[in-house]
Amino acid sequence: MRITVIGTGYLGAVHAVCMAQAGHEVLGLDMDAAKIDALSAGRAPFFEPGLPELLGEGLDSGRLSFTTDPAEAAAFGEVHFLCVGTPQQPGSNAADLRYLHAAVEALAPHLHRPCLVVGKSTVPVGTAAVLAAKLAELAPVGAEAELAWNPEFLREGFAVEDTLRPDRLVVGVTGEHAEAVLREVYAPVLALGTPWISTDLATAELVKTAANSFLATKISFINAMAEICDATGANVTTLADAIGHDARIGRRFLDAGLGFGGGCLPKDIRAFHARAQELGVGSALDFLSHVDTINLRQRTRTVEAARELLGGEFAGRRVTVLGVTFKPDSDDIRDSPSLHVARMIAAEGAEVRVHDPEGLANAKSAHPELECVESVEDACAGADLLLHLTPWRQYRELDPAEVATWVRAPRLLDGRNALDAPRWAAAGWTLRLLGKPAPAPAS
Ligand code: UDX
Repeated sequence: MRITVIGTGYLGAVHAVCMAQAGHEVLGLDMDAAKIDALSAGRAPFFEPGLPELLGEGLDSGRLSFTTDPAEAAAFGEVHFLCVGTPQQPGSNAADLRYLHAAVEALAPHLHRPCLVVGKSTVPVGTAAVLAAKLAELAPVGAEAELAWNPEFLREGFAVEDTLRPDRLVVGVTGEHAEAVLREVYAPVLALGTPWISTDLATAELVKTAANSFLATKISFINAMAEICDATGANVTTLADAIGHDARIGRRFLDAGLGFGGGCLPKDIRAFHARAQELGVGSALDFLSHVDTINLRQRTRTVEAARELLGGEFAGRRVTVLGVTFKPDSDDIRDSPSLHVARMIAAEGAEVRVHDPEGLANAKSAHPELECVESVEDACAGADLLLHLTPWRQYRELDPAEVATWVRAPRLLDGRNALDAPRWAAAGWTLRLLGKPAPAPAS
């Protein structure tokens, strides 16, 4: 099939590459000429495992190309995927839909033959119906430019895998034709036995926001338990393991620590609550503002625990932050909990050095006040305290005895409860964990 992908950010670039991998002819469209030049030259504009290889294969096959011209995209595709961002509005909790409206306004006037426009962006429920009307009004072909909604559940770091082998496919459609077209688009994925859920537009939009709200709630639930564990000397990891054995609960997304960040969960729970308020059912989702508060509190709790480890004062102390991305295997620093903690500690007068395997360039341009250091050893040199805040594999592979020779004082706060605490303690480190007692350092 001939498919266009409008918006080549995280979602769109991955979707375009994976659709070409699935055998379709794909044209990616973006207003950002630099992004289009990079993709056309085989350079992925962000770090995502497996993406550069598939981008190269797609370009070499001749099935994948990119453009900045909406008229070219409209002429090319039978199916147009909308993959633009829906960030949080400045000064509000609601989603900013301006890029989505702009994408429809740019594409629609060039639609002269019947086609299917498929939204993938995360949107407030009701958006698809508004866009469907706009599309029919602006497209020369009128209502034969049909709209469907097909939310995307990909995780950064696993984006290619999640797109080619998703847990499920969800489509919101207003008729059988749209469903048949989407079944054809996803034929290779359906052939793997992937569950297919076909529903109305509103339910499809809600599936995405409900899923992200549930995941965020799960993380804040275990972080609330971590606070209780800290007050009682109990161990939140054992607690999570034990409740996770109950198949109704499940162990995944119960890792206590610094909490969630990134370009999705925080803004999605806020936008969902804001939309419910607009609909007059805000109180049904009031719990999401508690989920947000619990999440943000883990950041201040981490700062307080760090202060305690330093004997009460940050001023003049050297603090090393390991990890600045919001999660490992990504270079994304959007709403990164670790970066937030680093900035709070720097604002209190500590000399903060940050390290990250992939996120330093982004951190440096967004926060020039932070000292970004390329090697872990240099970042740790002379430190009074290490903060392990993004659980990259590289940090788990560090030798605690060797790291102890780099720092001024062997103090470590593991904000992700991911390091081998007994091993670090045995190497003489004074430890602080979130929600569990730390083993005493060997003297
Ligand atoms: C999320 C959803 O998982 C995905 O389905 C959706 O399409 C987009 O939003 P992503 O933002 O890539 O994906 O990150 P995710 O893997 O969900 O992690 C989100 C945050 O939660 C990270 O900051 C991570 O460190 C944190 N997290 C995750 C925890 O603190 N504890 C956990 O147990 C799991």
